[in-house]
Amino acid sequence: MARLDVRCKVDLPVNILFDDPNKTKGHAEAKFTSLSLGGGFIEGLPPHEENKIIGLKYELPTYGEFEILGEVLRSEEKGVAARFYNLNRDAKFKLWDYIRENIKDDISCPYCGHKNAQKLRRCNGCGWSLNFYSQDYIIEHEKESFINRLAVKSKFFTIEDIYKILNFVDVEVLKIGKSFDINEEFVGSSHRMLNVFSLIRKVAPLDIPVLITGESGTGKELTAMAIHERSSRRHKPFIPINCAAIPDSLLEAELFGHEKGSFTGAHKQKIGKFEYADGGTIFLDEIGELSPSLQAKILRFLEDKIVEKIGSNGGKKIDVRLIAATNNDLKTAIEKGMFRKDLFYRLDVFNITLPPVRDRGEDKLILARYFLNKFSREMDLRKTFSSEAIDAIKCYDWPGNVREIINKVKRAVVMSREYTITPDDLDLEVMALKMEEVSSLKEVRYNIEKQKLIEAMKYCNNNISKVARILGISRPSVYSLRRKYNI
Ligand SMILES: Nc1ncnc2c1ncn2[C@@H]1O[C@H](COP(=O)(O)OP(=O)(O)O)[C@@H](O)[C@H]1O
Ligand SMILES: [Mg+2]
Repeated sequence: MARLDVRCKVDLPVNILFDDPNKTKGHAEAKFTSLSLGGGFIEGLPPHEENKIIGLKYELPTYGEFEILGEVLRSEEKGVAARFYNLNRDAKFKLWDYIRENIKDDISCPYCGHKNAQKLRRCNGCGWSLNFYSQDYIIEHEKESFINRLAVKSKFFTIEDIYKILNFVDVEVLKIGKSFDINEEFVGSSHRMLNVFSLIRKVAPLDIPVLITGESGTGKELTAMAIHERSSRRHKPFIPINCAAIPDSLLEAELFGHEKGSFTGAHKQKIGKFEYADGGTIFLDEIGELSPSLQAKILRFLEDKIVEKIGSNGGKKIDVRLIAATNNDLKTAIEKGMFRKDLFYRLDVFNITLPPVRDRGEDKLILARYFLNKFSREMDLRKTFSSEAIDAIKCYDWPGNVREIINKVKRAVVMSREYTITPDDLDLEVMALKMEEVSSLKEVRYNIEKQKLIEAMKYCNNNISKVARILGISRPSVYSLRRKYNI
């Protein structure tokens, strides 16, 4: 495989700073005998452990002095090979100019060693540009070799790292969905939430219906917004409607509109939400609450995309993406004959299930801290959680999910008189009590264990094998318990 960086032979003094186990700071005069943008070989440096970080101070003739960090890759008899860290753009470009001046051999390719009989623009062996004196050479080479560099590091990535990197590329580099920064607004790093983010990214551009399920307050509406903001419809309206919040008698008019005089009280024509959402997305929350007649109307819309106002003779073609959400089990509703099976299958083309907060592990605390910072900033206050508050946040089940975290944290920021927020400020004092019980349980267990060991030792005349047998544990365990309780 070709190298990623041109390496050249040099003879360049370098001052090394390192942590010495005996002294506080070690120091050595050594020299680079080879150098590339990625690292170099340092002769005269005593052996160092792999991965050890060292400070490197060197002066490039005519370019000045530089101080960078290096990581020991391997130690040899003659010296140490190191990889460079934190080379900023300026240091990198100057180093490149220096390296370029020191490439003496213009017959072999400095990347792969292939003998190029004459100077070519590209190596016949590895294909990389050899046009070293072009002004843009280094930028072009950095771009060309980027994927290879990443490939070298990628074996250290976890799946979470990969999601974060892809998300960073989308949001920060390509500015996709920058107006809705999924990283900032949609908090979560648990495995299950990372999966949700990945589903959002996957389904957003597909323009198909989505069914979002999850308990109240888990972020169903936020998910629908995230899908809309990442779709080609993002510059068109996103219209959310909570089907459970509007009386059934009014919901049809709300969704589909009505003609003037179509019923008593219809003094003028009304445009429905579907029509408002034309080109964009409509989000029907609590879809399980729809009446049978509205279920039929929505089904018709999904089939032919035609919206018919109440009291009108014809319909109008509308281009709307439908995202629906429910916090109850639609399959049971179907079994009970409360929800149409055919509508369910039309909606459930792609399903995203939001886990309850109690199943999101560390996300509980991450969410609480996120909202603490947010509200503190907004209210221009500086607040932090006490360690008891952190324990209480972790122990509590949060049945109201993220919405409950928001409410409790907001209340705590307002209510707490001190810099530190207590479980009481969070209205989680019950939890604090529970935790006391947990620690007293520990005590109970400690006392019983000790008591039983004393009794068994007496009963068995200190015969360890017998003690182990009657307590049902191994002999080493008996010894370790004796040490623990000092018996
Ligand atoms: N993962 C999350 N990160 C940040 N805020 C969230 C998250 N999930 C939900 N929220 C916020 O919590 C509140 C409730 O979310 P919402 O989407 O209305 O839940 P649902 O529709 O499931 O009841 C909203 O203010 C929303 O912005
Ligand atoms: Mg909701």
